[in-house]
Amino acid sequence: MKKVPFLDLARLHQSIRVPLDAAYRRVLDSGWFIMGPELEAFESEFARYCDVKHCVGVGNGLEALHLLLKAYKIGPGDEVIVPSNTFIATWLAVTECGATPVPVEPNIDTHNIDPALISHAITSRTRAIIPVHLYGQPADMDPISALAARHGLIVIEDAAQAQGARYKGRRAGSLGHAAATSFYPGKNLGALGDGGAVLTNDDAIAGKVKQLRNYGSKIKYQHDLIGYNSRLDEMQAAFLRAKLVVLDEWNACRREVATQYSKLLASADINLPLVSEYVEPVWHLYVIRSKHRDRLKAHLEQQGVSTVIHYPVPPHRQGCYQEFKGHTLPIAVQLAEEVLSLPMSPTLNAEAVELVTRTLVSFPAKTVSMH
Ligand SMILES: Cc1ncc(COP(=O)(O)O)c(C=O)c1O
Repeated sequence: MKKVPFLDLARLHQSIRVPLDAAYRRVLDSGWFIMGPELEAFESEFARYCDVKHCVGVGNGLEALHLLLKAYKIGPGDEVIVPSNTFIATWLAVTECGATPVPVEPNIDTHNIDPALISHAITSRTRAIIPVHLYGQPADMDPISALAARHGLIVIEDAAQAQGARYKGRRAGSLGHAAATSFYPGKNLGALGDGGAVLTNDDAIAGKVKQLRNYGSKIKYQHDLIGYNSRLDEMQAAFLRAKLVVLDEWNACRREVATQYSKLLASADINLPLVSEYVEPVWHLYVIRSKHRDRLKAHLEQQGVSTVIHYPVPPHRQGCYQEFKGHTLPIAVQLAEEVLSLPMSPTLNAEAVELVTRTLVSFPAKTVSMH
């Protein structure tokens, strides 16, 4: 048993065992499992939470991005600007539509796409920009939206890691033309299985995604679009309703952990995440950087502290994207070599945070690097 696990979902769920059990029984007893009252209720509750008109529950976060791109009719011949250092799903959604991802490098300290670099990537084929609110910190959306407006581009937020975060007071998910989010279990708002949603104020796009998620059908057995089967089921919607109630409380716990990390690690020989003054992140992950990342990870592991690398290989270096192999994206490559995610969970107590930070501070980076 680890002294400090990276994330202990079983323990986290214990604190809401009663409402989760009630949600399960409600759905079981209803006998209704797909596209029913739990989904409808969750969609309206989460739309209200995110300050948008529509939430459309879908099968997962990748599908949320994919169906949105489809709804905007993005396809072969189109280009979509994406961060060079995101989780691969952001790119997969673009290539799944037959469009081309155009990577743009991040700011190395905030880890988010650098708005100043986006204009160089825009061509006559560019249709959309997908900023990712990586690790729970919103990307700098105002310059991105201004640029998009100047060039007539769609802005789709990838808000998979940022449920509850704010940018200049506004909720992540309400900042672009539309947003995609993921309810993968480890997310800040995670289901007990797969799940995702599209968020938007646009009636037509919400309607199109509703149709696409359900075999392209608005009326049963009438199919006007070639659609998919990608729905958030009743059981997951019911669990998500129970978890939405505690999301702000759990995000506050994550914030407290992050504050303690930043305070106790201020003098450590590592780079801490930079938070822009205009955002309220929700600390999906607390990601540090170190030139000695692999040895540091091993040192922490030895002391019983579990860490994870998000992400060890950038999309353009993945086997599935041979055509991007020649691209020069030094910041994405450097981040992949240096990033390390520390344990992060609403249940992490002061003692655990202290152990993590003490172990980090005691890491003999300099001595060993002289070998
Ligand atoms: C940034 C980002 N985008 C998209 C996804 C895809 O979500 P899902 O795993 O629900 O398909 C994830 C999460 O896995 C993610 O972290």
